[in-house]
Amino acid sequence: MNDKPDYTPKSNEAEWHITYKCDLNCPNCNRLCFLPPTTPDMTLDDAREFNRQARELGWFPKIVILGGEPTLHRELFTFIDIASELSPGRVEVWSNGYRPAAKELLERIRTEGKARVCEETIKPDGCVVLPQGDFFLAPVDFGEIGHRPCHNHAAIGCGISVDAEGYTLCSVGGAIDSVLELGLRTKNLADLFDPEFAHRQTCSLCDVCGRELGITNAKIAKSQVMHGTLMSPTWQKAVKRIEKRGRRKEESA
Ligand SMILES: C[S@@+](CC[C@H](N)C(=O)[O-])C[C@H]1O[C@@H](n2cnc3c(N)ncnc32)[C@H](O)[C@@H]1O
Ligand code: SF4
Ligand code: SF4
Repeated sequence: MNDKPDYTPKSNEAEWHITYKCDLNCPNCNRLCFLPPTTPDMTLDDAREFNRQARELGWFPKIVILGGEPTLHRELFTFIDIASELSPGRVEVWSNGYRPAAKELLERIRTEGKARVCEETIKPDGCVVLPQGDFFLAPVDFGEIGHRPCHNHAAIGCGISVDAEGYTLCSVGGAIDSVLELGLRTKNLADLFDPEFAHRQTCSLCDVCGRELGITNAKIAKSQVMHGTLMSPTWQKAVKRIEKRGRRKEESA
């Protein structure tokens, strides 16, 4: 008998990260958008491919279009149309609504009734320090193996993550996988509905994500603030690697 917990999707929601670019650098951003993107923007074909696989599975989730900052993607309106083909009337846009251009686009979406604009995500004053600050404390760095899905994921069930490199069960999984280069994303949506795969991928993500781990003095002592965000050694190493790559690119440009 298989007595492993069932981590297959429960929320009936998919979060499309159409770009990880952002015009803000909010400390603690759980998609690490204060860094240069390590995953390219989604293409319209990526979105159509998601729809194809979802239809094949008979799965019609609510679709949240976000990022990064979704209004920076020039194809935002076409993504909304494609999402609406799969899930008519159940498409939402999460934007910081900060730039004048973002405000205009959101107003157009509201007026045309193309999708629901989530008003709670709007950040009229620019960068904010986001509340959950333990994401980047990797449990493995503190010998805490077996850290399991946080309440948000396990009990409420957050949306799956969709981006240009594939799918994860946790909505922040794509960003984690991308920055830490873990190779955990799958391009086969059906994998997420396979209990063995779901268990393996979720546990691997939760081993490096400290959401609900709690910030203690001992953890602070082993960590460092980078980009205004508390990070344990696993994350520090990844951020330094990404910054170094960015510097090399600039020098060779
Ligand atoms: C990653 S953002 C992407 C969309 C858009 N840029 C925005 O800010 O709304 C999606 C949502 O995650 C929230 N968020 C990001 N990091 C967070 C954190 N560490 N704690 C709580 N909420 C966070 C943002 O405030 C926003 O509501
Ligand atoms: S605006 Fe959104 S994506 Fe950008 S840094 Fe802030 S929370 Fe992250
Ligand atoms: S990876 Fe982090 S946010 Fe996702 S379920 Fe695990 S602890 Fe929660």
